[in-house]
Amino acid sequence: MRLTLRIWRQAGPNAPGRLVDYTADNVSPDMSFLEMLDIVNEGLIRKGEDAIAFDSDCREGICGMCSLVVNGVPHGPDRGTTVCQLHMRRYKDGDSITIEPWRAKAFPVVKDLVVDRSALDRLITAGGYVSVNAGGAPDGNAILIPKDVAESAMDSAACIGCGACVAACKNASAHLFMSAKITHLSLLPQGQQERSRRVESMIAQADAEGFGSCSNEGECEAVCPKEIQISNIARMTREYVRSRFTVR
Ligand code: SF4
Ligand code: FES
Repeated sequence: MRLTLRIWRQAGPNAPGRLVDYTADNVSPDMSFLEMLDIVNEGLIRKGEDAIAFDSDCREGICGMCSLVVNGVPHGPDRGTTVCQLHMRRYKDGDSITIEPWRAKAFPVVKDLVVDRSALDRLITAGGYVSVNAGGAPDGNAILIPKDVAESAMDSAACIGCGACVAACKNASAHLFMSAKITHLSLLPQGQQERSRRVESMIAQADAEGFGSCSNEGECEAVCPKEIQISNIARMTREYVRSRFTVR
């Protein structure tokens, strides 16, 4: 296939950016989207030009590093799929594809398609994990957890922290991301001790980072590669209200 790519190029955080056209030749339908970009980059490097910067690591939907907006959709057209799992068989000869970085105030562009997502790390730090008590590790089976509760917690724990939910939201809200963490820990017995503090400090940190609030558009759920459900946000809101009425 021969494709026309319109790719966001930006030399640095404060440099002006623009869409630049490239032609990708000899694209096999069996290539992944990122392999196609690798081939484009090899061609640029051979010509002595600056390669297009983009993030990736595992390239199998695990790490959450890949972060491209493809034709306006974070992670591209396939539901429940990261952009590293997207394959070129999704496209046909002659197609044009526009590729942009995540766009949110809290995710400043580092270069080209790479954004700084450390704001999500600071949200996790604000939430903490669970209390660390001195003493021996308890036996794994000593804390009984009903199967349905364990499964719900695991569904929420599937979030890979990619930030697509933020990129898709018109408010650049991190509510789906935060709610996945809050649901995961608030369902489990180990997460009870800091339940109130966690939700309050995460929401305060999200405000400080410049993430917006939630207006129930559902765009986050639609693009989430791990299909984290928006019902997590309702749980987070209940957790927040509950914490405000909890005497500590
Ligand atoms: S909730 Fe989904 S879209 Fe948001 S960071 Fe987690 S995996 Fe990515
Ligand atoms: S590169 Fe790891 S999820 Fe895409």
